[in-house]
Amino acid sequence: MTNYKGKHFIAEQDWTKAELDHMFEVAHELKEKKKKGEITDWLKNQTVFMIFFEQSTRTRNSMGCGITQLGGNSHDLTPDKMQLSHGETAKDTALVLSRMGHAIACRNCFYGIGNKYLREMAEWSDIPILSLQDDLYHPMQGIADLMTIQEKFGKNLKGVKVTVSWAYATSHAKPLSVPQSQILLFPRYGMDVTVAAPKEFPMLPEFVDQAQKNAKENGGSIKFTDDMDAGFEGAQIVIPKNWGGFAHFPKWEDSEVQKKEMKANLEKHKDWICDKRRMLLADKNVKYMHALPADRGKEVTDEVIDNEKWSIIYDEAENRLHTAKAIMALTMGGCK
Ligand code: CP
Repeated sequence: MTNYKGKHFIAEQDWTKAELDHMFEVAHELKEKKKKGEITDWLKNQTVFMIFFEQSTRTRNSMGCGITQLGGNSHDLTPDKMQLSHGETAKDTALVLSRMGHAIACRNCFYGIGNKYLREMAEWSDIPILSLQDDLYHPMQGIADLMTIQEKFGKNLKGVKVTVSWAYATSHAKPLSVPQSQILLFPRYGMDVTVAAPKEFPMLPEFVDQAQKNAKENGGSIKFTDDMDAGFEGAQIVIPKNWGGFAHFPKWEDSEVQKKEMKANLEKHKDWICDKRRMLLADKNVKYMHALPADRGKEVTDEVIDNEKWSIIYDEAENRLHTAKAIMALTMGGCK
């Protein structure tokens, strides 16, 4: 049996399937207990530091509420509140906070930087480093998605057809981390994954290779198409969401030239929207998921996202709470 206390959670891929399965059991237990109004102060007087380099609604509040419900407290930090805005290193930040509290949670989605920053903190920290999303992985989202799928389709997900699709959006170039976490995790549970995306919006090749390996080892499958309609055909779950075209470039430099090219590529694919016509191409009981926030009218029509038969987005968002609590309870030593 794994000793979870002190274990980092930077990518689901770093945890074995048995460890993830146990975490899901804890998440389901915590959800039940919350429903019954039971006290679960398993982390009494413990502190989680939350460092957000970017904005957040779900992640910030699932972690904040979660630690309160577990009997502890959180510090909601941003770079401007900390000396890292004056150049304090990941090493010094991690070592100092390790002497004071019980976990360091961090969101840093800067492309080419975020995951390295979290891994560097993990190298020095004596307390768990918990990813709140980086440029490569969003493990808290991945596990909440899987919990939601298990609730709708049962624990045995072998052969369940899920489509992770790119979609048009203008709010910002969203990170690769949500779809990359999903394509790594779902095939480990035997699911048949279709990735639909225009050729200018690939995922990183090493993630595709690992996802294929995960599928082979666990009885799932993964296939790719650059046709959104084809991606939707027969799908039991669709997850259409924007991500930036960072991986299209041999090396992303964040230059004006690259940003202009990415924007021009984006504008070629305005028709990549999840609408009623596309939902009707899918399985008759299809479910629509989105990590949120969604670009309504661009990634998805209101008719789809607000359709109670199709859309399970609020169950998905709620499960961010239960899974975040399970991760904190296990890695901070609140349960075995
Ligand atoms: N899905 C998600 O991570 O939402 P926030 O950006 O609001 O945390």
